[in-house]
Amino acid sequence: MAGLFDRTTLGDLDLANRIVMAPMTRSRADQRGVINPTASEYYAARTSAGLIISEGINVGPMSNAFDHTPGLWTEEQTEGWKAVVDRIHEKGGRVVAQLWHAGRASARGLLSDKQPLSPSGVNDDLDRLQVWALLANGAYVRIAATPSRAMTLGEVQGVVNEFRLAAANAVRAGFDGVEIHGANGYLIHQFLSPTINLRTDDYGGSAERRSRLLQEIVSAIAEVMPRSRIGLRLSPFADYNSARDPKPEDTYGQIAPLLQAAGLAYLHLADTNAWTGAPDYERMLPIFRGRYRGPLIVNASITPEHAARIVSSGEADAIAFGRLFLANPDLPARIRAGGPYNAPKPFGIYGGSDSGYLDYSLLETINGKAAARA
Ligand code: PHB
Repeated sequence: MAGLFDRTTLGDLDLANRIVMAPMTRSRADQRGVINPTASEYYAARTSAGLIISEGINVGPMSNAFDHTPGLWTEEQTEGWKAVVDRIHEKGGRVVAQLWHAGRASARGLLSDKQPLSPSGVNDDLDRLQVWALLANGAYVRIAATPSRAMTLGEVQGVVNEFRLAAANAVRAGFDGVEIHGANGYLIHQFLSPTINLRTDDYGGSAERRSRLLQEIVSAIAEVMPRSRIGLRLSPFADYNSARDPKPEDTYGQIAPLLQAAGLAYLHLADTNAWTGAPDYERMLPIFRGRYRGPLIVNASITPEHAARIVSSGEADAIAFGRLFLANPDLPARIRAGGPYNAPKPFGIYGGSDSGYLDYSLLETINGKAAARA
């Protein structure tokens, strides 16, 4: 029976334990999308995770849902990440780059005054999109999304090329692999949703056609790294960013066999609705059971106790923790000790200084007794 502290392999990724750090936006990159140098310290403090999944990294200038998120399409951005990844590796950690395109979940103010891109320009729900900006006074606030427009075929190809280039840059920066962000109402999820994707070309219609963008992105990335180093994050039921798939069982039931055939390192299933107190974890796994037999990571509001049961039952190979890892750099040690756990501080989640970023305490074992150090 597997435990959280047993090794495992997800494709070519070799994990020292089953405790994964979930991707989390921290919004401290500079205006050019270069990751903040302090990220080296932030991630290095968390290398006891079996795998770190980086914060979402924009694949190009038209992806930006959160101000000051980092990118991976320029030389400077790649160099910035290389310093962070080197530090993680020095400390014995493993890290994949989460590649992100926000699509319609954005606003002109974050896109050099350009109109956000989307499958079909569905704009009847802009108040439900999560777009955040940093104000001159230092406040990080939610702003109104601005109407998106339908992408041309050339722009769809452009996005595929952006994912390939960002993955190639991830290799140059030394990342152990990449995770494609196909969840939470962002561009790939927008294409998968029959409500948001109304296209009549090869990228819309049946679930298989709606997944064509995703499949082309996987193939493009596979040109620059083995499939066994490519993960994919999905959130079939997520209401986040108004993804509005009325029948996720149909959409994802149909693409699960395609994912099985794709031979990826792992599938990462996020139960994003658990954030708002309406978990759908129990409905999510049956969609994939029997159709996808590859490695599986699950995420969202899972307690360490529940995580241990999930891993020991074989339901999933590893568990990704978000908020717990944010507030507890040494989360595996704390799980082993049975806690206690720091709670996230109310400020400094998005943007700002080192406060709420580098100042979470570690649990130290002194003479066999656990003590929290401020
Ligand atoms: C967030 O920063 O709140 C965020 C980013 C990406 C997601 C979900 C939430 O997929």
